[in-house]
Amino acid sequence: MLSERFSTALVTGGAGLVGSNLVEDLLSQGLKVVSLDDLSAGSPQNLDHVRADPNLTEIVGDISDKDVVNDAMLGTDVVFHQAVSKNTVCMENPNRDLEVNAGGTLNLLLAAVDHSVEKFVHASTGSVYGRTEVFPTTEDAPVAPVSYYGVSKLAAERYVHAFHVLHELDVSILRYYHVYGPGQDNSDVGGVIPIFIRRALQGLPLKIFGDGTQLRAFTYVKDVTAINMASAIEPAAVDQVYNCASDVRVTITQLAETILGLLDRDTGDIEHHDWKPGDIKHFDISNTKVKEQLGFEFGYTFEQGLDLTIDAVRKVI
Ligand SMILES: NC(=O)c1ccc[n+]([C@@H]2O[C@H](COP(=O)([O-])OP(=O)(O)OC[C@H]3O[C@@H](n4cnc5c(N)ncnc54)[C@H](O)[C@@H]3O)[C@@H](O)[C@H]2O)c1
Repeated sequence: MLSERFSTALVTGGAGLVGSNLVEDLLSQGLKVVSLDDLSAGSPQNLDHVRADPNLTEIVGDISDKDVVNDAMLGTDVVFHQAVSKNTVCMENPNRDLEVNAGGTLNLLLAAVDHSVEKFVHASTGSVYGRTEVFPTTEDAPVAPVSYYGVSKLAAERYVHAFHVLHELDVSILRYYHVYGPGQDNSDVGGVIPIFIRRALQGLPLKIFGDGTQLRAFTYVKDVTAINMASAIEPAAVDQVYNCASDVRVTITQLAETILGLLDRDTGDIEHHDWKPGDIKHFDISNTKVKEQLGFEFGYTFEQGLDLTIDAVRKVI
């Protein structure tokens, strides 16, 4: 149990998809939780259902501000760092991306050492591999990101590892893929699953960029939060990197058809648009390490995850 080792957790990006679900899970395990989020992308609505919990403190603040980070870190035992400047923002503003994703992580690590934090779990991304030619892609495959986002996230990973070496900070790095679930942005810059669900519910066509054959390892958010919590207490996870992709492999066309089917729409409601530059076409990720080293089993089928996400989108639109 997490509460046997830690009493207070800091979750950055606590109003976002992974962060808000993690806040909920940590509170249910009896921890005191501080959520730090600047609300640039996340929504305070995502914490509505836990706001009355006296163990929750919400701070609206920016991780690129050292003073904010220092204050938020006070009394923290474990950090789950989820805040991120988004891919879509990065294409327009790579400097902000560097400032938040790399600089913000550095601020958190410095404050974690100053405040004698026991564990730092860091959310990273499969984008650090770039256009890899290693299939299935294991954690030791070469990293060569080809997006501003990926570069800044790799810089953050390197800081995390350096703090382990320099300061003996107990760290774990989790590389996520196609996380989806309640709390995800369903606006046009959000995740493909809530966007498709919202558009189908609103009777709008689902837009597919490219031919729709691109594969995705959709991973339900509660599996991702469970890996975060497991890596925080598992001794084998110290200074380790884990790919956090489920076994689900679904093409975007299959996804669109499944959602239209579940919502009783017509497959004619699909529209094809030009391929988005930077989108990864070939994709085959290994999740063997997280299963074998952490003994982790992905608990949600794609059907279960979709049902839960449809319910959640219905409630917010
Ligand atoms: N969702 C995915 O499919 C996916 C895939 C790969 C990696 N990741 C990683 O997972 C982590 C969580 O992503 P998510 O999907 O929950 O994203 P999200 O956008 O839902 O949540 C990120 C949160 O960070 C907040 N934020 C942004 N800038 C901030 C700043 N300067 N200070 C404080 N808060 C700030 C946003 O307001 C938002 O609530 C990120 O590190 C991301 O890189 C996510």
